[in-house]
Amino acid sequence: ALPYDLAGARIVISAGGTREPLDPVRYLGNRSSGKQGFALARAAAQRGAHVTVVAGSTNEAGEPAGVDVVHIEDARELADEMTKRAADADAVIMAAAVADFRPITVNDTKIKKNDDGPAPIELTTNPDILRGLVQSRESGAIPSEVVIVGFAAETGDEHGGVLDHGREKLRRKGCDLLVVNAVGDGKAFGTEDNTGWLLAANGNETSLPYGSKTLMASRILDEVHALLPD
Ligand code: PMT
Repeated sequence: ALPYDLAGARIVISAGGTREPLDPVRYLGNRSSGKQGFALARAAAQRGAHVTVVAGSTNEAGEPAGVDVVHIEDARELADEMTKRAADADAVIMAAAVADFRPITVNDTKIKKNDDGPAPIELTTNPDILRGLVQSRESGAIPSEVVIVGFAAETGDEHGGVLDHGREKLRRKGCDLLVVNAVGDGKAFGTEDNTGWLLAANGNETSLPYGSKTLMASRILDEVHALLPD
């Protein structure tokens, strides 16, 4: 049975993918199903936490018992919700797949086909919510005790493997924990199972063995629990 060790802890979790509008009909999206974020929410609620999920697009059917779910669409809405809720949280977990870029122009009418073929889509950069949460904690806008957990969806490339990129991302983001999971080739996005590493700001690295996203969630929450003030 799960330990009831998060009783009273207020945990805010982002889950699913953002949708960046292009016109009333189209958006830029991603393959996140929300499974990992909702697994974290269920596991945290079972361990006694007061859980709020801020959810983008997910394949999740119902809303898990004992969990408040707030729906958002794009990265900027997610940024607003996470920043607002982080101020009253004990831990914030950014499991959502947040678009780094959005179309500069959102057409208020459906883009029509014409003889010249498709026009290029110009993109602009979305706020880095995870980095922003860490900066808000440094500036005192949110309490210094808030535990901030990020995820890294890495494919690895000619510059290094998944773990290398994860270590680099942890340094860049400055969060307390970073869950590194390999993506691409059908991994992690939309799957029932997941695997990876849990990197801590203090240098600890824990391997998260292949298993259900629920098992991975409980391993992540063990480390979150260890960082919560007594
Ligand atoms: O939802 P599932 O189908 O279960 O899939 C789970 C998952 C693969 C989506 C999940 O395990 C995962 O890896 N989530 C993070 C996906 C992602 O956006 O990773 P990233 O390396 O691009 O982003 C790094 C971190 O910064 C993440 O915590 C992300 O939430 C956050 N971020 C990213 C971009 C941005 N503009 N602001 C952010 O805060």
